[in-house]
Amino acid sequence: MIILGIETSCDETSAAIIEGKKGFVIIKESVVASSLSMHAKTGGVIPEVAARAQLKFMLPVLEETLKKAFGFSLTEITTAPPPIDAIAVTKGPGLIGSLLIGLETARALSFVWKKPVVPVNHMMGHVYANFIKELRIMNSKLVEEESVPEFPLIALVVSGGHTDLLYMKGHGDIHVIGGTRDDAAGEAFDKIGRLLGLPYPGGAVIEQRAKKGDEKVFHFPRPLLGTQDYDFSFSGLKTAVMREVKNAPRLDDRIVSDIAAGAQMAIVEVLVKKTLIAAEEYSVKSILLSGGVSANQKLREAFQVEMRRRSIAAKLFFPPKDFCTDNAAMIAAAAYFNYHPVDWRGLQANPELYYE
Ligand code: KG4
Ligand code: ZN
Repeated sequence: MIILGIETSCDETSAAIIEGKKGFVIIKESVVASSLSMHAKTGGVIPEVAARAQLKFMLPVLEETLKKAFGFSLTEITTAPPPIDAIAVTKGPGLIGSLLIGLETARALSFVWKKPVVPVNHMMGHVYANFIKELRIMNSKLVEEESVPEFPLIALVVSGGHTDLLYMKGHGDIHVIGGTRDDAAGEAFDKIGRLLGLPYPGGAVIEQRAKKGDEKVFHFPRPLLGTQDYDFSFSGLKTAVMREVKNAPRLDDRIVSDIAAGAQMAIVEVLVKKTLIAAEEYSVKSILLSGGVSANQKLREAFQVEMRRRSIAAKLFFPPKDFCTDNAAMIAAAAYFNYHPVDWRGLQANPELYYE
């Protein structure tokens, strides 16, 4: 099955073509345009600016994807459709203005091409980025990665807006076992980045700065680490960083790097420990990391180290780095494994969509 994915929930405009296989998907084409540089100037995403950028990028991104995948031009829209079986599109959560651009595009294509359309929960898209298999060339032969996630599994979803811990017994069989009580992990990275005078978004920049710092100089709180639930809280960490920034005589390069390293470690430690306690309690076969923060190398390594230390036999998965942040391939992947098409007339945005 070949699926065209469309993702426009926030500040990335993306289209992708994936092919569903047995237990995994492969990417035929993936194009992502971002309005991030515009938001970097304002230190955060302004919804109207993001929506206008979505409108500007949507058709060029779609055109490029179809051209690269099939040599198909959008001007042929009234003639034969491209060789796809379905269209997948993000219906929420996200910014309403941004979501509508993708949904209206999918609606029009579904009507004109007479193809089924599958609405997708953006957060589940992040989880399903782990089902994308990268094909690698080895000894001039195309080889697939060896393994795919198996159920039951625990998925940690760590993005700019979410920090959720999911227990999944099968495709679509989702139980939310924990979440953040205040800031999301990505949001914590972004806010700490701002306090340190680093560009938006903070996550990747803090990761780079942390490499030059010493994580032991500042010890930041590990909120809710010892509690019996699977909830997270990161707003206290931000306050603790603010205190250190205020106390510092001068925010020089060394202090910024040390704070970055200490704060990153605090976030990573809580995420790793809570997720692994859940993995042990639910005796899962796989642990999936997903969302923008899962691109963080320190987080990936800390998971590997702690799993070895605790002799956890479950397999650890994280998406290819380009597919940790928002992209349409993950949306198409989620639709492939949860194939519930709707009539194009029934497509509706839901900015507040939760797991269902
Ligand atoms: O999943 P995503 O692209 O968008 C949402 O759905 O929110 O996640 C964006 C978030 C931002 O908060 C960003 O700072 C964070 O992911 N992020 C990272 C890294 N790359 C992106 N956080 C930590 N380390 C990274 N390397
Ligand atoms: Zn996202």
